[in-house]
Amino acid sequence: MGYTSVISMHCKRIAGRFVVAVVLVQGMALQSAAQDVATNAQATPKEIRETLNQAREMLDERRPSKASEILAKAAKQLEQLAVLPQPPSGARALAAACASLKDDLELEGIDVTGITIPSLKSSAIKAADPPAAGVATGPVRNRKGAQPQGVSFTGQVAPMFVKHCGGCHIAGKKGEFQMVSYEGLMRSGMVRPGDGISSRVVDVIQTGDMPRGGGKVTPDELATLIRWIDMGAAFDGPDPTLRMNAIGPAVVPKAAMPAAAVPKPVSLKPGDISFALEIAPILLKQCVSCHHTDTTGGGLGMVSMESLQHGGASGATFVAGKGADSLLIRKLKGVGIEGQRMPRGKPPLSDAVIARVEKWIDQGARLDVLTPQAALETVAAKGRAKHLSHEELAAQRFSAGGLMWKRALADEKATIVTRGSVCVVGNISQSRSDEIATVAEASLATVQKLIRGDERQVVKGGVVLFVFAKPYDYSNFWQTIRGHERPKGLTAHAGVLGDVAYGALTLPTGSEEVDEAADTASVVAEQMTAAAFLAAGATEWFASGAGRTVALKVAGKAPRAQAWRQEVPKALAGLGSSTEFLSGNAGPVATATISGAFVGSLAASGAKLRTLLDQLDAGMPFEAAFTEVFRGSPQALFEAWAAKEARKPVRPT
Ligand code: HEC
Ligand code: HEC
Repeated sequence: MGYTSVISMHCKRIAGRFVVAVVLVQGMALQSAAQDVATNAQATPKEIRETLNQAREMLDERRPSKASEILAKAAKQLEQLAVLPQPPSGARALAAACASLKDDLELEGIDVTGITIPSLKSSAIKAADPPAAGVATGPVRNRKGAQPQGVSFTGQVAPMFVKHCGGCHIAGKKGEFQMVSYEGLMRSGMVRPGDGISSRVVDVIQTGDMPRGGGKVTPDELATLIRWIDMGAAFDGPDPTLRMNAIGPAVVPKAAMPAAAVPKPVSLKPGDISFALEIAPILLKQCVSCHHTDTTGGGLGMVSMESLQHGGASGATFVAGKGADSLLIRKLKGVGIEGQRMPRGKPPLSDAVIARVEKWIDQGARLDVLTPQAALETVAAKGRAKHLSHEELAAQRFSAGGLMWKRALADEKATIVTRGSVCVVGNISQSRSDEIATVAEASLATVQKLIRGDERQVVKGGVVLFVFAKPYDYSNFWQTIRGHERPKGLTAHAGVLGDVAYGALTLPTGSEEVDEAADTASVVAEQMTAAAFLAAGATEWFASGAGRTVALKVAGKAPRAQAWRQEVPKALAGLGSSTEFLSGNAGPVATATISGAFVGSLAASGAKLRTLLDQLDAGMPFEAAFTEVFRGSPQALFEAWAAKEARKPVRPT
């Protein structure tokens, strides 16, 4: 049976920003279904979309109460679709659009706690759901059949909090209790990792005290919450300080997030103290053993610059420009403090070292490399890298790459082949490793022409290329590095961890007709380019898009590259909002698909990528460099591009 697909896109300017929602309606199949049940008055996604549009219009006409009435109606209609065994594609985008409208109404001061948006999970999240039992079951086995698989905070717990508690405890601070982010939730003391039943947050739900305002947490949701806490209340997202509504299916626009006064990366003048080179190593050596998460050492986690500054129980650890008054310095000197002098239980730091830290704060407490969210370890490694030659750094990086493999796959012996600026580490035969090293070296030379245009290395210190014989090995590697299950459909990625800039891939498995060499060249070019941009401080979404753009130039005829373009409409249709994409929450597979097309449209020639990389290397923060090179902010350009894409006619699939 054939059917036509219709894409509709809505792009409205509200309070200075765009809300973008894309819906894919599978026309005929659905319409006939809708006719069948017309007597039950079940609305189609298209009708719900129209209802939502009306609500938006009301809001635009400054009639928010009317808008909230209509939204409530749309949410009810959506609920009927959500309970179907197979909700139509597009329902998830509708849920996101409802949630975003609800957030906007809340900003208008409307009480929206009575409106419940049904939670529709993406199929990727569904696969990780616990079985449909009503109560907590024993540990779920994953496909490997060995390790118990936990409840996902980002996929299950956060959406529940957003749905039932959001209006009062995320947007608001009712009863002095607020859980803006995972970090905030853990800091509140309402969760006792390992002990669900005696956690306050469970107690208030069990006794029926919460949520106030008529909503109800289902027994399933409560069981999931308890199990998540019982299993250690771990965080499985990219950034524990991220606002909770931004990681769940409901998306809050950027404008609504409080702007944290966190130091932005800057380039230093001679005489300035480098955080990366001088301060981060002290913290790593002397402090992080006790301050590694936000539940240790006075609630102060020194995970990144952001969490360091954000501080613990006593609030911000430093105020830029005011070294002597800063908590950090007072704790190091042991003057004017509560609690102990730091580092606790160890000899105090020397006066000279404390003076350096104080001077760094006096100079503005600036971050000189990467982003405030980058791990301290990576920041320190980048600082060290600046002072090493390419060869010294390569030696260090390649041996660290070998250790990384051992850490992830202790039982899998790896062959290691070093060729120029590439080190191939993989559990494949020696001859295959040699072949890949040859392809990689040639591909790197082409990449160098494109994104450097001169003799400079693509990545100072070279790139480690991890090659996995089996998808299973790749899953184990991903799990070790990222701490959660490998996303469905992901076969390659790039990353920077401590001293190692790497690409990781499973080899394309081709039949005879498939051009395997071209496929290998394209995946290698893609991941090495992405690693280069990541190492320079670009965001993950941009790095993966740049990777695809360059791969298309290096090996555009490769079958895998040919498939990319066709995946774009579907990936865009599944996207809740531009914020979901730009904050890196769309998942690596959809992100690469969308970003490949987006960055490709911006950087038709390699020249702009080259300029951007130069700016990043010179220490310019990513947003600023992007805006300068492409003449527009990521958000503005992305939304314009996405709106244009959605207007393109879609070929029937
Ligand atoms: C309509 C608003 C509203 C909603 C929704 C809501 N709360 Fe509350 N919450 C409050 C108010 C008001 C207080 C202040 C305490 C009181 O009145 O006793 C509070 C207090 C709390 C406290 C601290 C009080 C204590 O006794 O330790 C916790 C924990 C809490 N809520 C959890 C939740 C959770 C979890 C949810 C979602 C499942 C939720 N709340 C939903 C309004 C709300
Ligand atoms: C052996 C464990 C340990 C080490 C090492 C350690 N800390 Fe702490 N730190 C703690 C504990 C426990 C607290 C909470 C009690 C207190 O304030 O004395 C704390 C509290 C703090 C606080 C106050 C947090 C707040 O919001 O109240 C700061 C600031 C701090 N540490 C800085 C440091 C620095 C800087 C270092 C390294 C030079 C360091 N700590 C090393 C255990 C440690």
